[in-house]
Amino acid sequence: MHTATEQHPASYAQPDAGDSPLVALADAVFASTSPYPGPGFRNHCRRLFHFATMLMEQEGLAMPHDLAYLVAMVHDLGIVSEQDQGVNYLQRSRALFHRITADQTLPDIDADVIDECLVYNHRVLKVPNLSRHADCFRRAVQIEHTHGMLRFGLDKAPVRAWFDKYPRADFDRVLVDFTWRTLRREPKTLIDGIFH
Ligand SMILES: [Fe+2]
Repeated sequence: MHTATEQHPASYAQPDAGDSPLVALADAVFASTSPYPGPGFRNHCRRLFHFATMLMEQEGLAMPHDLAYLVAMVHDLGIVSEQDQGVNYLQRSRALFHRITADQTLPDIDADVIDECLVYNHRVLKVPNLSRHADCFRRAVQIEHTHGMLRFGLDKAPVRAWFDKYPRADFDRVLVDFTWRTLRREPKTLIDGIFH
């Protein structure tokens, strides 16, 4: 049986946590913030990293993999973080990113691009003037939530391979919990965060 990494060019391999402080930071913050015992939430974020990275590579866009991994791992943490502020969970994920990277040296990339990756990734409709990197994250979320029915030009086999490597596990239960948390704290986000 092939593993996902065996089926992919090396450039699609997941960054090794030992190779980059940002990857180690992403894994540590995720572990300390996620309240879920199963692997579903983590696997969701890792699939998103791979799909976003594949889309960026397809379109010739540069974003260091460790930075893309950090963005993917924190993109939903605003839903469950107890210490970050923002009008909705997207803004709290952005605040969390800035809090945890305040003393880090980030790759040389426009900070607005990172913010857009975090704030607009759940938009279903195309966002006018969105950076191309952020639009890759936005479409990666759609690949993820359509279970690979939408792929935006990516081949079916490598997309499927990441779903196989990082199984859904308890992610449906996590999504139910996300919905309850959002309804309790910020019901407008279900409309505003997705469509506007
Ligand atoms: Fe997500």
